[in-house]
Amino acid sequence: MQISFVAPSNIAAGAWVVGAADGSALLPAAVRADKASGGALTRALKISRFTGKAGQMLEVLAPAGMAVSRLLLVGLGKPESVDEKGLEILGAQIVARLYAGGERAASLEIDVPKGANVKKAEAAAHLVFGARLRSYAFDKYRTRNLDEFEKKLTTLRIVTPDTAAAKKAYGGLAAVADGIFLARDLVNEPPNVLYPAEFARRAKTLLSKLGVKIEILGEAEMKKRGFGALVGVGQGSDRESQLVVMQWNGGKKSAKPIAFVGKGVCFDSGGLSLKPGGGMMGMKGDMAGAACVTGTMLALAARKAKVNAVGVIGLVENMPSGDATRPDDVLRSLSGQTIEVLNTDAEGRLVLADALTYTQRRFKPKFVIDLATLTGAIVQALGYEHAGVFSNDDQLVQRIQVAGRTTGERVWQLPLDPFYDKMIKSKIADMKNIGGGNSGAITAAQFLLRFIEKTPWAHLDIAGVAWQDGEQKPTIPSWGTGWGVRLLNRLVKDHYEN
Ligand code: BES
Ligand code: MN
Ligand code: ZN
Repeated sequence: MQISFVAPSNIAAGAWVVGAADGSALLPAAVRADKASGGALTRALKISRFTGKAGQMLEVLAPAGMAVSRLLLVGLGKPESVDEKGLEILGAQIVARLYAGGERAASLEIDVPKGANVKKAEAAAHLVFGARLRSYAFDKYRTRNLDEFEKKLTTLRIVTPDTAAAKKAYGGLAAVADGIFLARDLVNEPPNVLYPAEFARRAKTLLSKLGVKIEILGEAEMKKRGFGALVGVGQGSDRESQLVVMQWNGGKKSAKPIAFVGKGVCFDSGGLSLKPGGGMMGMKGDMAGAACVTGTMLALAARKAKVNAVGVIGLVENMPSGDATRPDDVLRSLSGQTIEVLNTDAEGRLVLADALTYTQRRFKPKFVIDLATLTGAIVQALGYEHAGVFSNDDQLVQRIQVAGRTTGERVWQLPLDPFYDKMIKSKIADMKNIGGGNSGAITAAQFLLRFIEKTPWAHLDIAGVAWQDGEQKPTIPSWGTGWGVRLLNRLVKDHYEN
């Protein structure tokens, strides 16, 4: 989709999309469109249910005497509730409607009503951001009936008074969209294609172009260095485990970096504690934490964020075989702590343990945030609208919550407490890898806390939000959501750039 920002003037061929506030009050562009069409919108309004509520639409096809192919009137809702997030959703809904209608080109002239919570340039930028997010598709494996999936809309013009300001506001968001698309691609790829080494290769190719420094540790190297927990998870697989270290240095030379760590289980069969068939479906997405970290690093680099940021992802495949880790095995983690593995399906925490130790010891970060599709229990607790967040630092968790609310990627805090820590005591080792009772998302977080060495830390359990099997959200047209890129980017932008 070609996107351009144009100043108000004559509207080109294609759809002309205009807005109305709640109560059907036509905004200026809509008034002009109505006049130009000899009152077609007014007439259509009279015979429709359109009232201007957010997301409502009214379409007039091939209006007489006009060069445009259609007029699309969209509802903005009450002026005081118009904000960036709402405009993103609107942009996405408009694109969806134009896709369905087979439209090829469109001019969006959505006036910002008086009393709205957003400036004109930002409004245009966020409208486009939403439109762009909706334009994502993962069709590379389709070979038949391609016209069924073809998106005809190829030209999108945003009509806005200050095109330079709007373009500038969109610049940063375009970088974020690129990061989200990368994260979605990685999550959507099938696991026979995207195994650890392939993931690492893609990260290297895409990020080094933007000036991100990439290091890749192979399995033998990790074994030698003592990554016993991570290597223990991957050893049942024919695919080699990898650790990818990404560094973006856009901040002051002396400034400590911030750090993101991601769970990258490219396929989670459960290992010898094999999942049943139904539970194994979708486990190609068990690397969504790593995908989010990679997408975020891309976004930060693409918009040249003034921050030093490190991304570390542990990439493994959890498979059963004669070499696989057994339930009852004891692994020695990089931290030196020993872990009795009682269920090989609780593998994400083992990967994260070593990645967290490595990240803290090497980089001494300002904070570390890990992201992982860690537990089914978090899905039980919170469903699909919030990720779970656990933290040892009140300021950090509060900042994450606010960034989540502004971007729409919301989080909900759950507790850490010595009581839950008792649940992972082992009979023979320093800890076991399952709690063995209820509160599975919390015992998993307690496990991770044992690997935190006085660093401010937050753990995001994204098992419920990393992909969507049910209803599709307007800005998310694919299975993989790319969850977290927007939130982390926002967190950085609000607090950690200098
Ligand atoms: N990757 C899964 C968690 C998961 C489940 C993510 C469903 C997304 C949807 C994780 O590795 C896992 O298998 N966790 C187990 C832990 C249990 C064995 C203690 C779980 O949640 O059942
Ligand atoms: Mn598992
Ligand atoms: Zn897993």
